Amino acid sequence: MDKIIIDGPCRLSGEVTISGAKNAAVAILPATLLVNGKCHLENVPDISDIRATIKILKSLGSKVEYITRNELIIDNSNITTVEAPYDLTCKFRASYYLLGALISRFGKAQISLPGGCNLGARPIDQHIKAFEKLGATVEVKRGNVYASTKNKLSAGNIFFDVVSVGATINAILAATLVPGTTTIENCAKEPHVVDVANFLNSMGANIKGAGTDVIKVTGVEALKQSSSYAVIPDQIEAGTFMVAAAITKGNILIKNCIPKHMEPITAKLQEAGAEVTEFEDTIRVSMNDTPRPINIKTMAYPGFPTDMQPQICTLIAISKGTGMIIESIWESRFQYTDELIKMGADITAHGRTAMIKGVDTLYGCPVASHDLRAGAAMILAGLVAHGRTEVYNVHHIERGYENIVDKFKKLGAKIEFVRDNGRDENV
Ligand code: EPU
Repeated sequence: MDKIIIDGPCRLSGEVTISGAKNAAVAILPATLLVNGKCHLENVPDISDIRATIKILKSLGSKVEYITRNELIIDNSNITTVEAPYDLTCKFRASYYLLGALISRFGKAQISLPGGCNLGARPIDQHIKAFEKLGATVEVKRGNVYASTKNKLSAGNIFFDVVSVGATINAILAATLVPGTTTIENCAKEPHVVDVANFLNSMGANIKGAGTDVIKVTGVEALKQSSSYAVIPDQIEAGTFMVAAAITKGNILIKNCIPKHMEPITAKLQEAGAEVTEFEDTIRVSMNDTPRPINIKTMAYPGFPTDMQPQICTLIAISKGTGMIIESIWESRFQYTDELIKMGADITAHGRTAMIKGVDTLYGCPVASHDLRAGAAMILAGLVAHGRTEVYNVHHIERGYENIVDKFKKLGAKIEFVRDNGRDENV
């Protein structure tokens, strides 16, 4: 089985450059389907979720040309089908963005029903509600979601019952080419929501209010080919390296990030005793002492991101005291704590709450990545643990972190990616 091996403990120092945001890119790539022509994208992360998205787009008829590893041109002028293959979409949750983009441009779409995952149930009722408010008929049967419209979609008012990143972006996608003004209320405000709107506006869409609770989309007849659009830096990757600096009592300059997006993480790291200095598109994080314990409640942006919860839990696990985490987004995001407990952590997790008593030392041992962010937390734990940590199920980590092993190695970590066939590689 592929694994990442870490020999700890270490103190990280140096510079790291953050890649493009996964959760923006997995929406922007499907959003290119709204254009009958070419889109030029830069700062696209080279991760397996993006490779999966590209495979799906190609199956629909998109032509994808790589200029460099992180820059590509997608030509959607010859889409031949609006039915995305089941085997490509069923395991990949962000494939729900195909629904919004395809229904807006072609009036119909079919994908497999995105199932639950290691974080708990992941319903799409709010996505469906948005499409229906615009006049679409949505049927969920035998594992597939079918969206269609007899006439054309028409502008409407959408009020979400829960704040959802995916449903907000899908409503924007669906409304972009619909005549009239669609008002979307109780929207998610995450940086990637804003990035998708900025991308579409750069191609001639008329989307106002992204980043606030209320978004207004005035439909345009067609989008035009863009010159080039660069995806924003990944907030969660940057946050993971910020925690890495603090947890190893290191000193890291984190380049290509947006300090404003990092504020909820910065505030908590400062509370734990880290020194955080912000520059224009760079952050330096350093730490000298053992962290003070902190309490966290995950919230929609600008609250503390759920996707940083396992990483910050690992920091609290070696703090001088007891901290608490309340997970308010996902129903079962504490499964990874069993792995930290194997390493010597003292954590009691029940339902959506975890009580973490800091210990002096973690010890390396074999651990599994339960999901993408849990995998990142296992690497962080391995960096401070004494002895050898072997992280398994690394395909989860490969979904969202570009070159993570190489990046940590350059910061001084003793870390290797070992493929099943014995070849050492970077993720
Ligand atoms: N929800 C509903 N109905 C819906 C949609 C969501 O009840 O139709 C609920 C969910 O059950 C959850 C809450 O609303 O309790 C928020 O879910 P949201 O829709 O915002 O999540 P998502 O769009 O499916 C994105 C990220 C996740 C991240 C969440 C929360 C992408 C591709 N994924 O998921 O990222 O945890 O927002 O910020 O953008 C990750 O990157 O590791 C990851 C899991």
